[in-house]
Amino acid sequence: MASVILGILLVLVPLPLSTKAQFGGNLTLGNSLTANDQNSSWSSPSGEFAFGFRRMGAGAYLLAIWFEKIEDKTIVWSANGNSLAPEGSKVQLTADGGLVLTDPRGRELWSSGLTGTGLAYAAMLDTGNFILASVSHVKLWDSFSRPTDTILPMQRLDLGTKVNARYSKMNYSAGRFHFMLGDDGNLAFYATPVLYDPSDIYWRSNTVGSGFQLIFNQSGQVYLTARNGTVLEPLTSGTVPTNGFYQRAILEYDGVFVLYIHPKMANSSSGWPMGWSTVSPPIPPNICTSINQNSGSGACGFNSYCTLGDDLRPRCQCPPGYTPLDSTNEMNGCIQDFVPQSCNGSRPETDQFVLREMLQTDWPASVYEHSTGQNEDWCREACLVDCFCAAAIFEDGVCWKKKNPLSNGRMGSWETGKTLIKVRIHDTTSKCTKNDQKKNKNTTLMIIGSVLLSCSVFVNLLLLITYLIYRSFRSRDSKLSRPVQINQVTGMRTFTYQELHEATYGFKEELGRGAFGTVYKGVLGSEDTNFVAVKVLATKTGESEKEFEREVSAIGRTDHKNLVQLLGYCNEGQHRLLVYEFMSNGTLADFLFGASRPSWYRRIEIVCNVAQGLSYLHEDCTRHIIHCDIKPQNILLDGSLTAKISDLGLAKLLMANQTRTTTGVRGTRGYLAPEWFRNMPISSKVDVYSFGILLVELICCRKNYEPKAEIEAQIVMADWVYDCYHNGSVLQLVESDEEASRDVKRVKGFVMIALWCIQEDPALRPTMKKITQMLEGAVEVPVPPVPSSFMSSI
Ligand SMILES: *[C@@H]1O[C@H](CO)[C@@H](O)[C@H](O)[C@H]1NC(C)=O
Ligand SMILES: *[C@@H]1O[C@H](CO)[C@@H](O)[C@H](O)[C@H]1NC(C)=O
Ligand SMILES: *[C@@H]1O[C@H](CO)[C@@H](O)[C@H](O)[C@H]1NC(C)=O
Ligand SMILES: *[C@@H]1O[C@H](CO)[C@@H](O)[C@H](O)[C@H]1NC(C)=O
Ligand SMILES: *[C@@H]1O[C@H](CO)[C@@H](O)[C@H](O)[C@H]1NC(C)=O
Ligand SMILES: *[C@@H]1O[C@H](CO)[C@@H](O)[C@H](O)[C@H]1NC(C)=O
Ligand SMILES: *[C@@H]1O[C@H](CO)[C@@H](O)[C@H](O)[C@H]1NC(C)=O
Repeated sequence: MASVILGILLVLVPLPLSTKAQFGGNLTLGNSLTANDQNSSWSSPSGEFAFGFRRMGAGAYLLAIWFEKIEDKTIVWSANGNSLAPEGSKVQLTADGGLVLTDPRGRELWSSGLTGTGLAYAAMLDTGNFILASVSHVKLWDSFSRPTDTILPMQRLDLGTKVNARYSKMNYSAGRFHFMLGDDGNLAFYATPVLYDPSDIYWRSNTVGSGFQLIFNQSGQVYLTARNGTVLEPLTSGTVPTNGFYQRAILEYDGVFVLYIHPKMANSSSGWPMGWSTVSPPIPPNICTSINQNSGSGACGFNSYCTLGDDLRPRCQCPPGYTPLDSTNEMNGCIQDFVPQSCNGSRPETDQFVLREMLQTDWPASVYEHSTGQNEDWCREACLVDCFCAAAIFEDGVCWKKKNPLSNGRMGSWETGKTLIKVRIHDTTSKCTKNDQKKNKNTTLMIIGSVLLSCSVFVNLLLLITYLIYRSFRSRDSKLSRPVQINQVTGMRTFTYQELHEATYGFKEELGRGAFGTVYKGVLGSEDTNFVAVKVLATKTGESEKEFEREVSAIGRTDHKNLVQLLGYCNEGQHRLLVYEFMSNGTLADFLFGASRPSWYRRIEIVCNVAQGLSYLHEDCTRHIIHCDIKPQNILLDGSLTAKISDLGLAKLLMANQTRTTTGVRGTRGYLAPEWFRNMPISSKVDVYSFGILLVELICCRKNYEPKAEIEAQIVMADWVYDCYHNGSVLQLVESDEEASRDVKRVKGFVMIALWCIQEDPALRPTMKKITQMLEGAVEVPVPPVPSSFMSSI
């Protein structure tokens, strides 16, 4: 006990400034640095920290302190995040203002100020502290007492000190999260720049009257102490390896306080994962549920919802029918993608809206009405007919109606209710540029096993011991992150075969099997929530490494909410694997032809989803891509039943050298366009044909080809559809489907669109863009011609 107190006292005693070793480069009055492309900076004696200008963009510089010896030169302190300095700006050590930053015209942008007189020198210390001192070594200013978002070992924060998160990952201006050790002794985290309401505080130490100092000690622990040195509240836990590691604790821009370590060795020969790794559970442990603001947006912006990443940091996403307000900052919330429901009594528009289901999701605030003892259908109806209702939350017979903007949204296994979110049926627009939902591309992967490979026995042993000690002190699973490998050519994340073998537990759980290979479920990272689908390509076809990577990068560059995202790939020897986002609701084939028929409105949305995905592939994305294999088995549904096209590019990638005639398909009228069987050029119109067949299936909720159909005319649905259309009896197609029967105008429109799509002459088939407009009702559907192939093929 005595030694612990002694240890703490040692830390509390201010470091004597005269320690020679700390002062390599003394800077004297008049010394200056200029913001330009020359890397001018002042470094600490050991060279581990540097002070100077960092270029943040064209002609914009940040005056900062950073870790000089590691690759990403992580910034730990900055002066002018709110007003970047133009090229040619200068920071100078002056007798009366301390450090003064001026722009090229001599106007002051920032200055340190001084807490006394007699400034003699400045120094960048090896601790990461930059100090200004007098001849008698009295500290007149130091960066440790004025932290930005990061604290370092040896740093102590006194009462009244504030730590402010930056605005976003690369924008160093002040964001909305901060924490403060108040004058009352309490340490509190705030979700707002200015406290409006006690509900803005999302974590507190409850040490009013006793808290005195926040300390980051040399053993890598961050804790709050009382005036007498007693530890009141630890902010970190577990043992942090210190020898050979840099450490930093940061209030991330998303509001989470995290302790990171980084190996000092500049290369990975130590076997430790490169880059910064998390070593202690963050504060708060679940930010999605910790923030419950009465008048703010919650952890994420308004209308968006928070899910907890593998690294226990928040991910903000938009619900169906909503898009990000600011595509460069996912934390800025979402806006409705559609014209809101009219509140004009004469036109309630209830037929234009649908409630989409989001499981394990809640927006706890924004309630304006609630009813108990109701069933879900009642809840749906109540929200649908109420133009103020943006969403309804249903749980255990209770129905809460929520209005815009929705706030404090979260989704996760801890939520037991379900959200029914109201969207306009044709909410979706055909623009693909809006779809910048950021996928978890930077998912972390923990592979301790690899630590034990490829390095000296001694280092191994040391690391093993460190790791075991560290494990035994930890209550949660480790969040060590493995560096993400990015291929320079494809710009995509690459995986080793071993990584994917581990991620799928040895390719254990099969999700599906297709012409191109088998798909397995996998998990990236140590938490069991970050699922991926790993596709093991069946054969390695003739194309070269370069060709494969070129194709993969074309696929990887597509980014649309209706395409299954390719997260990365593995190309190692005979192994070729693709890693996709995991789609929890399986294939459209299972959904559509399964036991329970999905509702008409759900089907309409799926039609629109697929049309938009295809329209993007054909026309909007940088490289025009023909899918070649559109069928319900290749359409997948995510957690909120949004349809996404999968397997894009694979047909081209893998069938290139195969004969185009796939005999088994002929005569069964599958999804393949007639061009495939004739010597005709293949264009994007083959996808239009397949889409037409898919549309028929979605209208009728039946497979196009059903050899066991009782009525012969109904064996091939597309033909039956034409007959019904011709006889003016399209309602026969949706006979047992009440919802669809009531929507006869749309059923007829869809049938006409389908008939346009399956024209034998590719030139007659509309483009996907046109089809999207027709589906949305923006363009009138002309009367389709007789598809001659029907006549000839039967
Ligand atoms: C740092 O703090 C931890 C927790 O209070 C303590 O166990 C450890 O001894 C301290 N280390 C030093 C070097 O003071
Ligand atoms: C730095 O400057 C101070 C004050 O002039 C002086 O006492 C100290 O010795 C200098 N240190 C070095 C390493 O030059
Ligand atoms: C600045 O530093 C980078 C990285 O160390 C180096 O590649 C570059 O050449 C330097 N630029 C100048 C002008 O010294
Ligand atoms: C950082 O974000 C702020 C707030 O949105 C904005 O005003 C500023 O222009 C941004 N700075 C940069 C360099 O993008
Ligand atoms: C130190 O201060 C705290 C809070 O003020 C108190 O609870 C504790 O008993 C004190 N410990 C000692 C050893 O004085
Ligand atoms: C990696 O670090 C080790 C140990 O410091 C050193 O011997 C080796 O040369 C370094 N390798 C490279 C590529 O820098
Ligand atoms: C309500 O609907 C009527 C008839 O369509 C229209 O004339 C009127 O302008 C609408 N009022 C509002 C407020 O939209």
